[in-house]
Amino acid sequence: MKKILILNWKQFPDTKDQADSFMTGFTSFIKKNKLEALVKKHEIVLLPPYIFIDRIMDIEAKNVSIGAQDVSRFNQGAFTGEISSKMLKSLGVKYVLVGHSERRLNFKEKNEDINTKILNCLHYNLKPILCVGENARNKNENSNSFRIKKIVFTQLNECLKGIKEDEIQDVIIAYEPVWAISSSANSKVADVSDVETMLINIRFWFETRFGKDKALNVKILYGGSINKDNILNFKSLFINDGFLVGKASTNLKELGSVLTNLKKL
Ligand code: PGA
Repeated sequence: MKKILILNWKQFPDTKDQADSFMTGFTSFIKKNKLEALVKKHEIVLLPPYIFIDRIMDIEAKNVSIGAQDVSRFNQGAFTGEISSKMLKSLGVKYVLVGHSERRLNFKEKNEDINTKILNCLHYNLKPILCVGENARNKNENSNSFRIKKIVFTQLNECLKGIKEDEIQDVIIAYEPVWAISSSANSKVADVSDVETMLINIRFWFETRFGKDKALNVKILYGGSINKDNILNFKSLFINDGFLVGKASTNLKELGSVLTNLKKL
């Protein structure tokens, strides 16, 4: 099964010209550095701001899928400023990020809203990438601490409510402890074995609900301040379906180095 690399541009770049030249540069970087095989081995999913999706589709690098960073919880109607699942589908978008901590925090999104978005995405054959993770850790807490597991399991319970057994393989989970995300104050990269424990816990959550075989098909990624240097730490990660990269994916040089190092994993 292909590993997944999600590139979340967040609210960058500032102009359409910068978006165009990033994509052109990205394509030639892949060629120049002979990274075609790596790109083919991964499902690379670029999440540009909505407004750049259509033009990026036109100059889309080969083997790069395009996703959206969010979606409306309403399918249709008078909801000024909103973008629906059906609109995204009509553009050729394949993936939609939902429940990112920046949206939970800045736009007060609740698990219930995220659940509606996920069900709508699945209805329109879009693959939701659900972000889960705790805001902070108390001293001595780890991925097996009751409080931490309860937060993540509650997010999974509430955000995936009503999802059918045959839809589960279309959902991607990104474990992103909020304290590890670059936009958090004093963010730090999580410890690899601790990440592994949480990935196992998440897989276990799927196993108890959908059985072992179905659970094995769910992609569970890690995200949080991944960059060209620390991605190598994840070499020892036994369970590794891929990564979600934010800030480091907004700079072509940095992203190039992330890809070059990914080749070594
Ligand atoms: P980061 O962001 O890599 O900048 O920490 C990850 C994300 O978009 O969630």
